[in-house]
Amino acid sequence: LANGLGVTPPMGWNSWNHFSCSIDERVIKETAVALVTTGLSKLGYNYVNIDDCWAEIARDNKGTLVPKKSTFPSGIKALADYVHRKGLKLGIYSDAGYLTCSKTMPGSLGHEEHDAKTFAEWGIDYLKYDNCNNDGSKPTVRYPVMTRALMKSGRPIFHSLCEWGDMHPALWGSPVGNSWRTTNDIKDNWVSMISIADMNEVYAEHARPGGWNDPDMLEVGNGGMTKDEYIVHFSIWAISKAPLLLGCDIRNMTKETMEIVANKEVIAINQDPHGVQAKKVRMEGDIEIWAGALSGYRVALLLLNRGPSRTSITANWDDIEIPANSIVEARDLWEHKTLKQKFVENLTATVDSHACKLYVLKPVA
Ligand code: GLA
Repeated sequence: LANGLGVTPPMGWNSWNHFSCSIDERVIKETAVALVTTGLSKLGYNYVNIDDCWAEIARDNKGTLVPKKSTFPSGIKALADYVHRKGLKLGIYSDAGYLTCSKTMPGSLGHEEHDAKTFAEWGIDYLKYDNCNNDGSKPTVRYPVMTRALMKSGRPIFHSLCEWGDMHPALWGSPVGNSWRTTNDIKDNWVSMISIADMNEVYAEHARPGGWNDPDMLEVGNGGMTKDEYIVHFSIWAISKAPLLLGCDIRNMTKETMEIVANKEVIAINQDPHGVQAKKVRMEGDIEIWAGALSGYRVALLLLNRGPSRTSITANWDDIEIPANSIVEARDLWEHKTLKQKFVENLTATVDSHACKLYVLKPVA
C-alpha cells in the first residue's frame, strides 16, 4: 500500500499469542517499558500492538468505539501518548465484520470512516484488520473500504490484513494493505509453525517493500518448542521478510528467548533494503534448502532439517543463483562467525533434527 509505511517488514510485539483476551492497559504499558529496557526497541521492535478484546461490546451514542472500562480505563489516546513518549508506536485491532473474532467487541464493517478517524485521533499507528463475523461479501470488497478510510484519516496507519489466506490476499493485497496474512492462526508447536512456513512460502514473489506476506506472529518464548525449533521459526520468518511481531511476555523473557529474537544479523536479513522473500530452492525428503537474494550481491541461505535425525546438507551454487565459479565467504548467523574456509561450487553442513543453519553468502572472487 502506497502510504509510505512498511518499507521493511514491521517489527514489534502483539498481545494475542501470549495473552489472548487477558489484556489491560498495564500489560501494554509494561510491555512498552520492557521493549525499551531490554534494548529490543533499539533493534527495531517498535510497534506495540493491542489485539482483540480491548473494547466494550457497545459503541457510544455517537457511534464511536469505547475502550473497555474495566481494562482500559484511561482510554486508548492516553495509552498512545504513553507509548509514543517511549519512542514506540501503538497498534490496534478491528474486524471487517459486525463483531471481532472473540465476539466480545464490535467490528468496523459499516463504520470504516468513523473508526479510522477515531484511530487517527487517538494516535494509532498500525491497524490489524480481521475477517470474522462478516456479511458474507468478499474480502476484496470489504478490505479496500478500510484502506480508503485510513488514507483519508489524516494519519499514516500501517494496514495489516488478517484474512487468513483463504482468498489469496497475496494476489490482491498490494494496493490494499502493508501486509496480509497468508495462513490460518499459528500455534506454539513445531507442526503448526513449519506448516505455516510452507503455506506462506508459495507466495514469495508477491512480497516487496510496502507489502509483505504475513505467516502470523512469532511464538518464540512461549514454551511450546525447543530452542532449535524456535531458531528455525525465527530464521524462516526473518528470511521470508515476515513481520517480526514478538508474541511472548516481553516482561519475563528468558536469556535463551532474548538470544534468539535479539540476533542482530538475523534481523538485518529481515530488514534488508532489497526486500526479497527467500524461497525453497531444493527439497529432498526431510531436508530443505531455502535461499533469497540480499543487497550487495549477497544471498541468505538456510539449510533446514525437518527430520528426526542429524544429517548432512549440501547447497549448490546452481540452486541459489550464485555464479558457478564464484568463491564465496560464509557468515554463520547463529554461531556469529565468518567461516575460515572459502567455498567453491557448494557448501555442506551437518544439521541437527528440527534445526537449521543460516548463512549469509558473499562472493569474494
Ligand atoms: C483471529 C486472528 C488472530 C487473533 C484472533 C483474535 O483468529 O487470526 O490472529 O487476532 O482472531 O480473536
